[in-house]
Amino acid sequence: MYGRVTGVSLLGVRGHVVTVEAHIGRGLPALTLTGLPGAPVQDARDRIRPAVESAGLAWPMRRVVVNLAPGNLRKEGPGLDLPVAMGVLVASAQVPADRVAGFAFAGELSLKGELLPTPGILSVALAASRAGLPGVVVPAANAGEAALVEGLEVVGAGTLTEVVGFFRGTWRPPSTAPERERTREAERAVDLAEVRGQARARRALEVAAAGGHNVLLVGPPGAGKTMLARRLATILPGMTRTEALEVTQLHSVAGLLDGAGLRTDRPFRAPHHSISLSALLGGGSSYPRPGEVSLAHHGVLFLDELTEFRRDAVEALRQPLEDGRVVIARTAGTVEFPARFTLVAAANPCPCGFLGDTRRRCVCQEHRLQAYRQRLSGPLLDRIDIQLVVPRLSRRELLDETPGEPSARVRERVEEARDRQRIRLRGTGYACNAHLPGPLARRLSRVRPEALELLARAVDGMALSGRGFDRAVKVARTIADLAGADEVGTDHVSEALAYRMDVMEEEPAGVG
Ligand SMILES: Nc1ncnc2c1ncn2[C@@H]1O[C@H](COP(=O)(O)OP(=O)(O)OP(=O)(O)O)[C@@H](O)[C@H]1O
Ligand SMILES: [Mg+2]
Repeated sequence: MYGRVTGVSLLGVRGHVVTVEAHIGRGLPALTLTGLPGAPVQDARDRIRPAVESAGLAWPMRRVVVNLAPGNLRKEGPGLDLPVAMGVLVASAQVPADRVAGFAFAGELSLKGELLPTPGILSVALAASRAGLPGVVVPAANAGEAALVEGLEVVGAGTLTEVVGFFRGTWRPPSTAPERERTREAERAVDLAEVRGQARARRALEVAAAGGHNVLLVGPPGAGKTMLARRLATILPGMTRTEALEVTQLHSVAGLLDGAGLRTDRPFRAPHHSISLSALLGGGSSYPRPGEVSLAHHGVLFLDELTEFRRDAVEALRQPLEDGRVVIARTAGTVEFPARFTLVAAANPCPCGFLGDTRRRCVCQEHRLQAYRQRLSGPLLDRIDIQLVVPRLSRRELLDETPGEPSARVRERVEEARDRQRIRLRGTGYACNAHLPGPLARRLSRVRPEALELLARAVDGMALSGRGFDRAVKVARTIADLAGADEVGTDHVSEALAYRMDVMEEEPAGVG
């Protein structure tokens, strides 16, 4: 007795269609899984028989062998319980084989035969659609995300009994309207309009958003660094449907979708500085889940109190910052998740926080200051295009009730600047200035001779490094894009050169 159904294995964020073959033969009652099932999938064996029996169905009192094909593909992910159970039910002729053929199955089963909310169902549905299958059977809790895939029949069931009823023609699922593409604009709690004064920092955030540049904000306590950083996501351009699907998929695999539909708002992730490496980069014992760097994909990763983060965590950010992806090495083989985010970091200028402040004297001892500076510098800083001081607000600024420019207006300018980049970078595979490799940025940026001269002088006078030079070119290009200028001029270059940490250090302390 033989049965065959389709399941989906999850590797990283991508689903891979798996053929589940069940054979019932002579021998003592037992269930054997073959075909490279990961250990957690092996464990699922013990859940399947109770689930089937709880659903009022018969478990074959013979030897059951279930093979997962293709054999060279590692079978992972929490959704393989249901296809294994269905394979056995088809092999034991409790479910008609012909009707089952058009569906991919995914879902975790409880011992009572319930279909539990399962991570990664959007990836499952996309894989089924790619494989040309007409439908999927998934947990009712995840039906909405599966319905985001156009042209796919989605059967959302709450129990194994319902799944079997569907194929016997005795149960029909409630219709699954595709989840509306909810824009959470209205739900967004914060807006740049709430930030008073800080014209320079607001401008820097606008430049960062326009070119996809990373930002570091340094200033005394209460200057508004956290407040400003939290508003960066609100001025980023809207996501394309492809981007939104990627983001939704990542959140689904992480089990963070909560039945919500397509995620159309840019992610904003702000992990605490005590975060573990695996929570930051991704990982997990049962199957690999995306970490904060991937949950921030296409959005913002905010590291508040940057100097408090563990050194190895900060170092580990180099790869995603360079490549826009993160590779997680495990004993079971490596997996990869996308991780293309804009980094915004905030820090105090010194341990006491008041170095350079106009009203309070810094009380840090020289050696502590040195050690702190060391923590702030290093390889990460090299990858932050825009670095600036956020000074404390004056009393007058704080009392000023005039609202700042709202995020929506800033975002319009950002979108125009991005459109210009898209046109210029067409065919390069890059979407914005910040992501360009140095040589390409220099070649495509159209820097005017006198602006180039200014940059050359900075190399000598300000000891600008090669990487610093490239960063300045890219930021200047973004500033020109915001200004609607075809060529990069001296104004654009001098503004770009001002967004540098070493410039900041040279500033007079101004303690008075
Ligand atoms: N520019 C500003 N406009 C309006 N409110 C501000 C501004 N700057 C600071 N505030 C007020 O001060 C509070 C503290 O600001 P915030 O937490 O952003 O400071 P910070 O620079 O991150 O300080 P710390 O270094 O202590 O983390 C804010 O919640 C806000 O109420
Ligand atoms: Mg803060």
